[in-house]
Amino acid sequence: MKYRKFGRTGWNVSEVGYGMWGMGEWSGSDDKQSLESLQRSIDLGCNFFDTAWAYGDGHSEPLLGKILRANRGKTLYTATKVPPKNREWPSKREFKLDDCYPPEYIEEYIEKSLQNLGVETIDLIQTHTWEDRWLNDERLPRAIEKMKKSGKVRTFGPSVNRWEPYNGMRAVLEGHAEAVQVIYNIFDQNPEDALFPVCRMKEAAVIARVPFDEGTLTGTLTLDSQWPASDWRNTYFVPENLKSSVAHAEALRPLIPAGSTMAETALRFILSNPDVSTIIPGMRKLRNVEANVAAGKAGPLPLDLHKKLRAHRWDRNPTTWSQ
Ligand SMILES: NC(=O)c1ccc[n+]([C@@H]2O[C@H](COP(=O)([O-])OP(=O)(O)OC[C@H]3O[C@@H](n4cnc5c(N)ncnc54)[C@H](OP(=O)(O)O)[C@@H]3O)[C@@H](O)[C@H]2O)c1
Repeated sequence: MKYRKFGRTGWNVSEVGYGMWGMGEWSGSDDKQSLESLQRSIDLGCNFFDTAWAYGDGHSEPLLGKILRANRGKTLYTATKVPPKNREWPSKREFKLDDCYPPEYIEEYIEKSLQNLGVETIDLIQTHTWEDRWLNDERLPRAIEKMKKSGKVRTFGPSVNRWEPYNGMRAVLEGHAEAVQVIYNIFDQNPEDALFPVCRMKEAAVIARVPFDEGTLTGTLTLDSQWPASDWRNTYFVPENLKSSVAHAEALRPLIPAGSTMAETALRFILSNPDVSTIIPGMRKLRNVEANVAAGKAGPLPLDLHKKLRAHRWDRNPTTWSQ
């Protein structure tokens, strides 16, 4: 495993971190399998874990708590998120701070997460949605300052809304955020335009999430892909999105080197950008943990392939199904 600087925090985080949404609530999750996969990732050098209270309404966080207790003495970084009070993803421009993150509500959820995780301090607390405009309400900067001083959290960062990387830049520029979590992958390259330069300038860490576009960039989706009724992916891969997602994945298939996979190429594409501190692929299966750590070891892509893949940038706008 290789490690990178996590912004200005002084932490060295694994290039391949761990996304814990799937194991919280996607269909087909099995806690025993998830715990084995988490343990394997630690044995292979992963030290950065991203969860959220909302992942199974408190189901994912205790899994992380268990694995932290089983690995006492190791330096493992815990990132979690406060869910929006109105439980609305994505955030909408008209939402006010009081609709989503009133200060006393943030404090309440920090307590809930501390309890779920069984820790005294959370390394990174994130808001699960974000509007830079909320910073106009001075209660928010004060709340961020207060939570860091309390010793209950070490750092703060927004998890910015899907396809809105610009809506998070102010949190970084004004120094409130030590880290920002953003979608960045072969398709979603737009954080490079302005967010990454700002993070570089302010030494804010970048957590690259959704490296496989929720599955598209594993190359396993087809026009017939379906999930059990309760699975969130049905609401993302609505027919119009499934069709265009499959078409975009098929268009880059000829570029995948012999002996590699689309998933490996997708991770190595992200690793090619030094602005990224850590990638958090969602993983529940042991074989995916092992494959993704191996992709990290393989490192950045050859320049010519990276250049060809850059042409597969796919700019999208937020929609009702893009939560
Ligand atoms: N608003 C937010 O803050 C927000 C939103 C979305 C995601 N996130 C965070 O970002 C993380 C990553 O996003 P995600 O999990 O939604 O999507 P993702 O990482 O783009 O895709 C996850 C899917 O890829 C599969 N997979 C993983 N490695 C693979 C491999 N090597 N080959 C084939 N398939 C592979 C996983 O399978 P298995 O699970 O079966 O192993 C899972 O089905 C989340 O877990 C979460 O921590 C945050």
